[in-house]
Amino acid sequence: MSTIAPLIAGNWKMNGLTHSLEELSELARLLTTGEAPRAVVVVCPPATLLATMASQGASSGILAGGQDCHAQSAGAHTGDISASMLADAGAQFVIVGHSERRADHGESDDLVRAKAEAAIGAGLKPIICVGESDAQRDAGEAEAVVSAQLAASIPDAAEHHEVVVAYEPIWAIGTGRTPTLEEIHDIHAAIRARLVDRFGLSRGETIRILYGGSLKPQNAREILAVDNVNGGLVGGASLLAKDFYTIISAV
Ligand code: PGA
Repeated sequence: MSTIAPLIAGNWKMNGLTHSLEELSELARLLTTGEAPRAVVVVCPPATLLATMASQGASSGILAGGQDCHAQSAGAHTGDISASMLADAGAQFVIVGHSERRADHGESDDLVRAKAEAAIGAGLKPIICVGESDAQRDAGEAEAVVSAQLAASIPDAAEHHEVVVAYEPIWAIGTGRTPTLEEIHDIHAAIRARLVDRFGLSRGETIRILYGGSLKPQNAREILAVDNVNGGLVGGASLLAKDFYTIISAV
């Protein structure tokens, strides 16, 4: 298998006030005093904490990421944040197409692809999320749904620029339920095959595919060991430094 350095990204979602940066300090302490992490570590806080987190995390190797960006680089879009603003605040990554944004804000694959293009244009690495609903899985459509999302959400620019794919079954997010290891194995293998089909073997093999959805200290070791799982996207368990560190250490 490939030798991609695994990546563990924490998605704080709409959680975190100034005092939450204490968790970041604690994570930094754990990462610098314990065994050196074998994974690239990214934390995606709310935008209000991004600049502080990026400067605070730098010395301990914690990279910062945004949770979303607008497809335009600037303009009359009240309340939105552009990829270049995230980069300016110190982000290196940005999550696009999270299922919560697809559901809450009606984001389509086309929009997600435009956001990923904007991210690349601003020098960020987009973490592009895909994943099926439980009804789609029950109907045996998981692989087809994810393949279609991948085809339409990943920009052609991924051939020459770093992108990360995150497979997050919607029914596993925040529920404590996860697919079986075999189900994770099969869908990650299918995603890898689609990436190789589209970008060729040498490129398609180097794109990280993260697993996300109720990744916890208790299940991280076995899930992160599955073929073609090149790390994880962690929601709830990234809010506590101790839990997040345990997941990072499970790599
Ligand atoms: P969860 O969220 O780990 O809380 O299930 C994952 C995500 O939404 O990225």
